[in-house]
Amino acid sequence: MNPALTKLGAQMSNLTGVRAIMKDIIETLQSSGGQELINLSAGNPLILPEVEQLWRDCTADLLASSEYGEVVCRYGSSQGYAPLIEAIANDFNKRYNLKLTERNILITPGSQTLYFYAANSFGGYTSSGELKQIVLPLSPDYTGYGGICLFPEALIAYKPSLDIDASAHRFKYRPDFSQLSITENTGCVIFSRPCNPTGNVLTDDEVRKIAALAAPYDVPVLIDSAYAPPFPALNFTDMSLIFGENILHCTSLSKAGLPGERIGIAIGHERLIQVLESFQTNASLHSSRYGQAIAARAINSGALVQIAEQVIRPFYQNKFAILESTLDQAMPKDLPWYLHRGEGAIFAWLWLQDLPITDWELYQELKQVSVIVVPGSTFFPGLHEEWQHKHQCVRISLTGSDEELVTGMQRLAKVVEQIYQRAALSV
Ligand SMILES: Cc1ncc(COP(=O)(O)O)c(C=O)c1O
Repeated sequence: MNPALTKLGAQMSNLTGVRAIMKDIIETLQSSGGQELINLSAGNPLILPEVEQLWRDCTADLLASSEYGEVVCRYGSSQGYAPLIEAIANDFNKRYNLKLTERNILITPGSQTLYFYAANSFGGYTSSGELKQIVLPLSPDYTGYGGICLFPEALIAYKPSLDIDASAHRFKYRPDFSQLSITENTGCVIFSRPCNPTGNVLTDDEVRKIAALAAPYDVPVLIDSAYAPPFPALNFTDMSLIFGENILHCTSLSKAGLPGERIGIAIGHERLIQVLESFQTNASLHSSRYGQAIAARAINSGALVQIAEQVIRPFYQNKFAILESTLDQAMPKDLPWYLHRGEGAIFAWLWLQDLPITDWELYQELKQVSVIVVPGSTFFPGLHEEWQHKHQCVRISLTGSDEELVTGMQRLAKVVEQIYQRAALSV
């Protein structure tokens, strides 16, 4: 069977970004023939015992309640399961001094879906044929933004400026406001904070500035808060959540231990919520109600926030500290390597300035020493201009064991040193 595909069908049946690399990684893992591989490529959060227990307890509570049949045996509203919406409104109102009502909240089957709805409601062609851009103000950013636009030409990303601390071998990306353009041609703005892949956290001022640039044109700014507080609270630096009339605060329960239940949450102006809710009714009806019912329990009891702050955040923060100190010990001091400041999320991002080979070739060489990381060039969706930097970075997942992180970084340091030495000899 080989059905004829439409242009859109062909586009959507193509894997983009990191998902294309994942195919190679899975094949490598399958063909390793018993050889122990250190897989530092995963984006899947680890199953932490306390987190699993929380969801088990909430499930037991749901099973024992008369609500069970209502939850799993019935369709519900596209906006989401009312007790979860109420739990989020109460929690956010108390925590952040807001005045949310149920009309400000939408639950989607994962936040990836939410970005798909938004990208295509606000980005793409208007009925009069103008192209509305989807602006990513700081590239690199989440690879999944590469596949959400039905009109890929709408996606535009901006090169950042680099804040480099050469002697410490650290750096940080910042939005380059001298380049960033948000105009009447912008449909929406999206960025992740904390950022996957870099662990960057845009400052409160940077976020306010982006939102202020978009406000005069009524452009929605989607703040992808998949790693932000209050859950999963995967920020290692202080950050405030920024709300506003044109801000859609988007979060997810995936990194708080429920990736399989597919729960995304959009919080914002009721007009924005209505647009996305209608898109959802057309596309998928609603998210799984079982996941929503257990999430409502974990939020109402306060257990989710507590576990996020006391278990999830310290777990990954400690992983980053292990990775950072291993690189500091193992990497040659005289090479221009720079680790992105570890401000959050579950990844480390390493930039190797003037790397003599591409990130893809580095990925292949690391495979030879049984270490798997993700080549960085897959994390620049929407950045069309050539930029050497795109081919000089790798993303390292913090989901490895402590030993794997130490051994993996020691091997990486050796491989990188040899690569620069080889290049110096061949000049
Ligand atoms: C920054 C970011 N946004 C969104 C997602 C999608 O998450 P989900 O659809 O599971 O909510 C991910 C998943 O890794 C992510 O890292």
